[in-house]
Amino acid sequence: MIKPTAFKAGINGSILSMIEKAGFRIRAMKTVLLTAGEAARFYAVHHERPFYKDLVAYMSSGPVIAAILEKENAVEDFRKLIGSTDPARAEAGTVRNLFGKNVQENAVHGSDSDRNAVTEAGFFFSELERI
Ligand code: CMP
Repeated sequence: MIKPTAFKAGINGSILSMIEKAGFRIRAMKTVLLTAGEAARFYAVHHERPFYKDLVAYMSSGPVIAAILEKENAVEDFRKLIGSTDPARAEAGTVRNLFGKNVQENAVHGSDSDRNAVTEAGFFFSELERI
């Protein structure tokens, strides 16, 4: 998912280009403006964390781009491509290092396991919307 700050900054093309150049195939993609309730559901695993309320408000503050990406070893390779959660700690040349502003506005979200990737893909896309 490309987060609201990156979307507003007009860098979607740059981020998607990095993703494609790294060997990912975009299998589904859409722009959506999440309601607070939808953002709360998407990030429900974090509901006990101190940053949850802010994260939900932020993720529903503007459009995001959701995508399903395909690649061998996709989850791990995508996490390498985007870098650490906190852009200040993300390795040079990673998406978050290049485009993230802070730990919340860190440009992109990536699934942290194959299982969560399936859940998150199902959150955004119906079967008909997948190729
Ligand atoms: P993301 O990959 O979208 O998954 C959960 C998000 O919670 C994470 O990126 C950050 O944007 C946010 N997050 C994680 N840790 C913190 C933190 N310490 N303070 C604020 N936001 C955080």
